[in-house]
Amino acid sequence: MADLASLTQEALAEVAACGDLGALEDVRVRWLGKKGTLTEQLKALGGLSAAERPAAGARINEAKEKVQAAIEAHRSALALASLERQLASGRIDVTLPGRGEEQGGLHPVTRARLRIETLFTRAGFDVASGPEIEDDFHNFGALNFTENHPARAMHDTFYFPDGRLLRTHTSPVQIRALQAQGAPLFVIAPGRVYRCDSDMTHSPMFHQLEGLAVDENISFANMKAVLHGFLQAFFERDLAMRLRPSFFPFTEPSAEVDMSCVFCEGRGCRVCKHTGWLEIAGCGMVHPNVLQASGVDPERYTGYAFGAGIDRLAMLRYGVNDLRLFFDNDLRFLRQFRAFGA
Ligand code: DAH
Repeated sequence: MADLASLTQEALAEVAACGDLGALEDVRVRWLGKKGTLTEQLKALGGLSAAERPAAGARINEAKEKVQAAIEAHRSALALASLERQLASGRIDVTLPGRGEEQGGLHPVTRARLRIETLFTRAGFDVASGPEIEDDFHNFGALNFTENHPARAMHDTFYFPDGRLLRTHTSPVQIRALQAQGAPLFVIAPGRVYRCDSDMTHSPMFHQLEGLAVDENISFANMKAVLHGFLQAFFERDLAMRLRPSFFPFTEPSAEVDMSCVFCEGRGCRVCKHTGWLEIAGCGMVHPNVLQASGVDPERYTGYAFGAGIDRLAMLRYGVNDLRLFFDNDLRFLRQFRAFGA
């Protein structure tokens, strides 16, 4: 029998020298496999006497178990080392900020609307709304557009097959708010409106601001003060305002509201077409027929109303010269408003 102790030492040394699992498996086969060196020792037992055999067999098995245990231990050490290498090379720092994450901002039209709502809320107005799909009664009839009134044709209305329509202005909210709440009533109604029209200054969808004040003793002078106060607060500067006679079926008398040009302060420039004035709203005293159609007694109550373009207010406040920029949603344009206050 070969010297079992030195064979064992040799096997253990080979195990310890293995740098990877493949080499370790080779060593295992060489020593412990069916024809492995230590396994072969068992075959030599036949040459021993029956008395010597059990003790010799036990010693060989002990040697095999010792080598087997060393192989197992080395295998787990190698596996652990390889896992640690993988973890180290694929390390992920979960505390790093995500890629491509940017803080967004509100759309300039939304900013303008919120600013308008804040200013009018401070002045005692509530914010009202109505449906964008309207019926003829609320969009036209109750607003004193008689059946064949030419002003109906002026609105380039989008109609649905069932006779309903996309509201052409926010004025129908006047009717809905009066029907729902009656007088006294102080509301603004910002919202989307639709007209079949599209060019540099017209978009088929745009935003309007409606205003309505109904109470006892409401006067034209009240309207003038509120509008002038709003414009100065919105643009944060002193402005001149003037009213020009106009016509709307739902107001009498009616007027167009002009304000001194915010770009040239009234001296004349391209934006105001060298007039010094910018047209900014329509307004007037609520027509008695409108109050009547909404269930409000026109003998007791009077009111004023106004309508302005929110997109136009936003263009003038932020210095945007093409309305379509608001609706293209080009991020290069929108990003410029991220840092703005209201
Ligand atoms: N609804 C009108 C339009 O879209 C704007 C308007 C003018 C509204 C005068 C009013 C108003 O409330 O009094 O052309």
